[in-house]
Amino acid sequence: MINYKVRPFRPEDIPGVVDVGLHSTYQYSKESLLNWIKYDPEGIIVALLDSGKVIGVCAAVRHNDEVAFGGAFCVLEAYRDSDVGDKHVENRNLGLNSSADKVRIYTNRGFRVTEKLWSILEYEFLGPLNTKVLSDALPAGVVLKTFSDDYLEDIYAYDKMLIGYDRREIVKENCKEPSTKTLVAFKRGICVGYGSVKSNIFDATRVGPLYCNDQKVGEVMFKRLLEQMPDVCQRFGHVHH
Ligand SMILES: CC(C)(COP(=O)(O)OP(=O)(O)OC[C@H]1O[C@@H](n2cnc3c(N)ncnc32)[C@H](O)[C@@H]1OP(=O)(O)O)[C@@H](O)C(=O)NCCC(=O)NCCS
Repeated sequence: MINYKVRPFRPEDIPGVVDVGLHSTYQYSKESLLNWIKYDPEGIIVALLDSGKVIGVCAAVRHNDEVAFGGAFCVLEAYRDSDVGDKHVENRNLGLNSSADKVRIYTNRGFRVTEKLWSILEYEFLGPLNTKVLSDALPAGVVLKTFSDDYLEDIYAYDKMLIGYDRREIVKENCKEPSTKTLVAFKRGICVGYGSVKSNIFDATRVGPLYCNDQKVGEVMFKRLLEQMPDVCQRFGHVHH
């Protein structure tokens, strides 16, 4: 029997949350954790021992008044299978992504599988990244612009078209996190993609989100984002599709 309590995440929990996330190589950044609670103070919960040690974390952040999205669900290995993961954020219409082998965790708790047609590919690379192998040739009529607030409405509209619902606050926070660099693709004045790069909790370079209509645009965006990270050649990169 483990004595622990569950409460909303606070900024002082960051070292403990990072420690839990590191064991599962989670991809969020410290800045994202802070931004998400600014927007949704009860959107991340932590499980803590009486000593204050963080043993679990789970996010279910509201994207708008109707939809929340879950992630960062993790319990330290030594404390698993004791129902710690079963504590949840209440009163949310919640979506999430799950790997196929874990989907039972969610279907057993009432989630329905709504989408099977896409896959998550994860690449990790240790060593200097050679971005020279990537193309820098944009298709005719496409330009990549460095993020500015002026492009937010274009990005929101594009993101909504892809995702199917409005998540403007989360999109804005992502673009505005201090260590984040974002590029926006336009074709004849219409937004056709956007992509961000940032440092994740284990100081690796993380590209994402990155969305685009044309794979060729995505490749150039990917190359230019990586090249904007000052020490990407020393650190290891991580790409999450
Ligand atoms: C998933 C996780 C958070 C569950 O935490 P926990 O404290 O062990 O949770 P509980 O004791 O409440 O058990 C929850 C369920 O997870 C299931 N589970 C745990 N690990 C699993 C695994 N590797 N594969 C499939 N199911 C698993 C348990 O069987 C249990 O299912 P059931 O109650 O429906 O039979 C924990 O295993 C973990 O941190 N895993 C690594 C990170 C991860 O994979 N997160 C989920 C990404 S989709």
